[in-house]
Amino acid sequence: MVFLITGASGFIGFHLAKALLARGNTVIGIDNLNDYYSPLLKQARCDQLKQFQNFYFYQMDIADQPAMESILKQHHDIKIIFNLAAQAGVRYSLENPFAYIQTNITGHLTILELARHLPKLQRIFYASSSSVYGLNKHLPFSEQDRVDRPSSVYAASKQSAELLSFTYHHLYGLKQTGLRFFTVYGPWGRPDMAYYLFAKAIAENKPITLYEGENLSRDFTYISDVIDGLISLLECPDLDGYEIYNIGNSRQEQVENLITCLEKSMQKKAKINRITRPNTDIEATLSDITAIYKKTGWSPKTRLDEGIQYFTDWFQNFNN
Ligand SMILES: NC(=O)c1ccc[n+]([C@@H]2O[C@H](COP(=O)([O-])OP(=O)(O)OC[C@H]3O[C@@H](n4cnc5c(N)ncnc54)[C@H](O)[C@@H]3O)[C@@H](O)[C@H]2O)c1
Repeated sequence: MVFLITGASGFIGFHLAKALLARGNTVIGIDNLNDYYSPLLKQARCDQLKQFQNFYFYQMDIADQPAMESILKQHHDIKIIFNLAAQAGVRYSLENPFAYIQTNITGHLTILELARHLPKLQRIFYASSSSVYGLNKHLPFSEQDRVDRPSSVYAASKQSAELLSFTYHHLYGLKQTGLRFFTVYGPWGRPDMAYYLFAKAIAENKPITLYEGENLSRDFTYISDVIDGLISLLECPDLDGYEIYNIGNSRQEQVENLITCLEKSMQKKAKINRITRPNTDIEATLSDITAIYKKTGWSPKTRLDEGIQYFTDWFQNFNN
């Protein structure tokens, strides 16, 4: 089976590409290797994928329509697209809001527009985010909840991509599955995310910046569980024409507990510097994963302490 994965050198794209290549599939990987975080880390992930013979990599921008068109012409036998390329990160959307519109909206639209001309395409899976639940207070977040109150440009861009996807399904019958990921973490993870920044601060004996708030909590989802969830969707024979799933661990963990897990696995005490939570960041997330469970039988397996141990093992090794 031939897959197109955008954001293939990113955290989730890399793990997904590796899993699909290991199963004997062909993967066309696209990534612009931008410097939002270390391009060396992105390159190191990509180098691993290049060890597979049936991996084809193109460094390009998904919003560059002519360049994307020429690649898709060469690979007209693509059956499944995973659009995972994005300008990620909630806080950076205060600094550079236009980057989010360019990749997450214009880039997503470019993929949709080109995809509808691919003769063998069966389905597009695309990354959305728990951020779309925005200012909702009621936990757990369900796919049925309203998603029209985003608290950041990042969240607004992800919600806009969902709307465009719905429209392309309505207009052209493009089959699509939206994936609302909840704080994905693990080896080869993203250096801009809290768990990574905390591990780095602990390793360097620097203080962790922690947001104030008694209920500061996240639904942390381990990367292998996420990949198993994506494979369960790929193997599911009766996906609907247009659908959206929460991909989360369905456990509400205090961020303080994340720090305890990091301290245990790194065998070092953290120093903590508390600041007021910026209004881009929501206080708590928790996924209702009944929908994907009912559809595919998938449920996550990795406890936070286990997943953090796997992450810090990789982190310490990689940084040595
Ligand atoms: N990791 C999480 O916790 C999480 C949570 C919610 C949603 N998501 C979404 O899942 C997807 C994957 O996230 P990730 O954690 O792997 O992020 P990531 O930043 O590691 O990966 C995204 C990749 O896309 C590439 N990219 C960015 N703009 C591009 C462009 N215009 N053209 C081509 N490539 C481009 C980047 O270089 C990067 O390698 C993203 O859409 C993200 O918004 C992730």
